[in-house]
Amino acid sequence: MVDFHTHILPRLDDGASSSEESLIMLRAEREHGVETVVATPHFYADKDNPTDFLRRRERAYRSLSEKIEKNGEETFPRIMLGAEVAYFEGMSDCEELSLLNIEGTKLLLLEMPAIRWNERMIAEVLAIHEKTGLIPVIAHIDRYIKVFNNKRMADWFEGLPVLIQANADFFTGWKYTRLALKMFDRGQIHLLGTDCHNTDSRPPEMNVATEALVKKFGEGVLKYLERNERKVFSTSRREILSIIQP
Ligand SMILES: [Fe+2]
Repeated sequence: MVDFHTHILPRLDDGASSSEESLIMLRAEREHGVETVVATPHFYADKDNPTDFLRRRERAYRSLSEKIEKNGEETFPRIMLGAEVAYFEGMSDCEELSLLNIEGTKLLLLEMPAIRWNERMIAEVLAIHEKTGLIPVIAHIDRYIKVFNNKRMADWFEGLPVLIQANADFFTGWKYTRLALKMFDRGQIHLLGTDCHNTDSRPPEMNVATEALVKKFGEGVLKYLERNERKVFSTSRREILSIIQP
């Protein structure tokens, strides 16, 4: 199981505040069956630039890796480096955008604005794919239910070369679990992430999603997720996009 969205690197953004906290979060991930954690610290183009961001990310990763080594490497999930890139106008023309991909993949975790999207924004997302070859992964689709005041936010991306990530806690609570399961069933959720930030208010809880999914669809659902995970790590765009257009 892969957690595609975490703020697990220490002292980098509003995520883990120390390596010790990162280790506790990583242990919880492992307990919930997560073998690979993608570290996706926030990247905001108006406050940062890719070069500085990558330098800081590398430093945080190294300090955490040292701690992991001291604490028995085999007890922790593998960490892959990425970023949660906040949408900005003209991003498809940013030459350094590709540096912010999930390492070794064509994926870019993209945080859409928390306002009603318009055609221009969707065209920009599409242009990211067309100009850079990256495949945008829309972060926490569940976050936009309230923004749109409707439940069809994933429809914006129907038929586009875009993958959709949902947060694990979308699958909890009486209000949204049914919607989460329905979207999953419709093929509108391709990847899961915990979007964990810490050990108390936003801990890693992948188990809440997998338990709800298994309860509804049976154990086979985990195979579907694993198949998607394998595909997105492929170097072939066609293979990755076969998730959307099988
Ligand atoms: Fe996030």
